[in-house]
Amino acid sequence: MLTFTSPSTLRSHLQAIQNSTTSLGLVPTMGALHEGHIELVKRAVRENPITVVSIFVNPIQFNNQDDLTGYPRTLGEDCALLESAGCDLVFAPSVDEMYEHSPSLRLDFGNLEHVMEGAFRPGHFSGVGVVVARLFNMVQPDKAYFGQKDLQQVAVIRRLIQDLAFPVELTVCPTVREADGLAMSSRNRRLSLEHRAMAPFIHQTLTEAQRQLASGGSVGLIKQFVRNEFALHPEFLLEYFEIANARNLGLMENPQPENETALCMAAHLGCVRLIDNVIF
Ligand code: PAJ
Repeated sequence: MLTFTSPSTLRSHLQAIQNSTTSLGLVPTMGALHEGHIELVKRAVRENPITVVSIFVNPIQFNNQDDLTGYPRTLGEDCALLESAGCDLVFAPSVDEMYEHSPSLRLDFGNLEHVMEGAFRPGHFSGVGVVVARLFNMVQPDKAYFGQKDLQQVAVIRRLIQDLAFPVELTVCPTVREADGLAMSSRNRRLSLEHRAMAPFIHQTLTEAQRQLASGGSVGLIKQFVRNEFALHPEFLLEYFEIANARNLGLMENPQPENETALCMAAHLGCVRLIDNVIF
């Protein structure tokens, strides 16, 4: 496995090994890798002769300075995990190598900016869109792999690919969970032991809400159920719970069986913000 930090050295290396029959897979990450990331990498390795994993904690997608400073950085461990997952090449630029000039471009993803992550993290998706567009240009992948864990991010990337005509095929991989249901996340390592033990409550509540929806419960009553559950668990601060079209994230008051429906949630537990979703 090779590691690069400079975009131009990366590009000349890739140009030398790429030819028309070689498909190249890209897995963009911010590092602090766990089994959820590694599943994306293994899928990319199975489907492409060359897999590139990027590791870059992207400052322009953070709207909370403490979250950026406290974001775990574990490059040595990450490279060991990637090597054993069969990754061919790691691209881990510094902030200066990624952004020669601090980008002034702002991207607006329409309705996706006004709901859930878009509404609670203003500017976040613009930062994600800019860095992923830069990665697509630097790596020029044929396929890119993203996780369902960040469902709204998937919708943003789908729109980025469509609107800017990137010749990249998007693959979405299922959410990988701990044995107790907690969605794996780099931020989980910042949970205290006590909070870690409580954290599966989020997935449990989503699963129960999904069961109620499947058995004909109304959106209003299910939202009330979720609010009541959080009132009984005051350690958690609920940011949002929404029922939405799983593809375009449009909020749904009356989900129709023909549309894939997502139940999405964000909540704070101590100083950690957790998000999760289930689709049915
Ligand atoms: P990061 O949070 O490191 O996640 C990298 C990729 O791993 C994303 O596509 C995310 O959805 C996926 N992922 C994270 N946890 C997962 C889990 N438990 N199961 C399955 N997939 C999981 O998302 C980002 O980084 C950044 O926004 C990025 C796209 C790299 C742009 O900076």
